[in-house]
Amino acid sequence: MLFWIFIGVQTVLFVIMVKIMVLMSLAIFSEKHRRYPPFAPSFGKEKAVMQSIVRDILEKADRPMTVIDPGCGIGTLLVKLARQFPRHNFVGIEWGFWVFAALRLRSWRLKNLRVVRNNMFDVDFKDADVIMCFLMTPLMAPLADKILQECKKGVIVVSNTYTLPKLKLEETFKTRKKLFIQNVYMYKV
Ligand SMILES: C[S@@+](CC[C@H](N)C(=O)[O-])C[C@H]1O[C@@H](n2cnc3c(N)ncnc32)[C@H](O)[C@@H]1O
Repeated sequence: MLFWIFIGVQTVLFVIMVKIMVLMSLAIFSEKHRRYPPFAPSFGKEKAVMQSIVRDILEKADRPMTVIDPGCGIGTLLVKLARQFPRHNFVGIEWGFWVFAALRLRSWRLKNLRVVRNNMFDVDFKDADVIMCFLMTPLMAPLADKILQECKKGVIVVSNTYTLPKLKLEETFKTRKKLFIQNVYMYKV
């Protein structure tokens, strides 16, 4: 029995190591992955803070709101909120085929969650009331430009870890101090 538990743990560790090595090689050798973040879901305190900020906005809203997650992965941030707030609309934009397919499977019953398979820079953000994102430094400046060009005044943008230049910072939610993933930033257009 102990032997099989040992083998199981070794296998899981091996798979995690291979995944980390693949992601690191992609980051080093592939131009696309240097510029665009690979799939890595929000987790821990940052995920909880992101969802609680958006939950707060949606609870107070007096009309149906539209929440967009550009680069939504498997809907880690969106699916729970879409279940909790059926009167609000949620849009996930994801270009990765398998990640998109997994999200479609997770969310096929959710009528208020639309999943778009496209490059986020080719999707119009004009309907957004709230934008929540977890991306990567090279994308933040072009994303800020897009938001300023397309979004109406008053749109709230919540970002996990990465700051958006040019947008007005409303509040920084300090989460961790030393780790790579840290803080949630809230902006208002
Ligand atoms: C770090 S993950 C974040 C996932 C999710 N937002 C979360 O917080 O759990 C970033 C996702 O963005 C997607 N992505 C990166 N660049 C993109 C682009 N230009 N258009 C659409 N999706 C993109 C990646 O495929 C990846 O799944």
